[in-house]
Amino acid sequence: MPLVTMKQIMADSVKRATTDVDPAERYAVGAFNFSTIPEMVGIVEGARSKNAPVILMASLGAIKYIGSLELIAETAKGIAKTYPEVPICLHLDHATDMEQIKQAVVAGFTNVMIDASQEEFEVNIAKSKEIADFAHNHSPYGINGCSVEAELGMLAGHEDNIHVEESGKAYTDPALVKEFVTKTGIDALAVAIGTAHGFYKAAPEIQFDLLEAIRKETDIALVLHGGTGVPEDDFRKCVAMGMSKINVGTGLKKVYTDAVREAIKTLPETEYDPRKIAGPGRQAIAKEIASKCDLFNCTGKTPDVLKSIYA
Ligand code: G3H
Ligand code: ZN
Repeated sequence: MPLVTMKQIMADSVKRATTDVDPAERYAVGAFNFSTIPEMVGIVEGARSKNAPVILMASLGAIKYIGSLELIAETAKGIAKTYPEVPICLHLDHATDMEQIKQAVVAGFTNVMIDASQEEFEVNIAKSKEIADFAHNHSPYGINGCSVEAELGMLAGHEDNIHVEESGKAYTDPALVKEFVTKTGIDALAVAIGTAHGFYKAAPEIQFDLLEAIRKETDIALVLHGGTGVPEDDFRKCVAMGMSKINVGTGLKKVYTDAVREAIKTLPETEYDPRKIAGPGRQAIAKEIASKCDLFNCTGKTPDVLKSIYA
């Protein structure tokens, strides 16, 4: 099947998050950062093994490393053709350059994130709205062929070109959520409720009361950033309380690199086949994604996602 938008891939999850269903029936779609093309494939293989939808996230660093937005978009389209049973969304993560975001839309990304969270509230609104208007109308896949995520509040930690000190972090203010969502026309809201980007020095203190308050303010998808190192029970609670997308990045890099390091250690020095060295990295990623699908309660949800898209 062709790439789908984040709005489409999360519609079923959002419905469960915003209606009176048993919280145990709720789930979040996993969104995973990649740095290389084999990791993209590993992520999709992991989702396929669990009959789960998945979101591939290109960070600014990945775009620089892989080479171009077009190369990533065309690769993702090829992967979607190769794995037609997996609903896949291609997402541009934490982008700040308005022109680059528009280029991603035109190149065929099916979701873009405008991260103007460090700007004043009014500027964040203006930039997020400009991107929402553009993305909804300029995708090569047609009207609403690309959806949009924006962020309100600021997570601590490091994410490519964005660095926020612990002292500079700001939780999402529930009182601003309705105005932000209405004025921008975005499809998903990234919230700052106590997680951070990168490895934690101490366990995060997730503000569940804040999540509850935010969830009451809007019907659009909520996104949890900084998924690396969040305790499993906190993930479960976030999902049960209506989180629809969970981002994991840093931890996956470690999973990949640890597996490659181990392969190099184990193989004889005469072995030079890159597939024997990088292959275990791809397999390790697939295994990690599979376990995240279980944790986010996303396992087996592909039929429901497809029903909500194509019904
Ligand atoms: O947008 C990306 C995520 O928020 C990744 O966060 O690297 O802490 O897992 P993480
Ligand atoms: Zn993030």
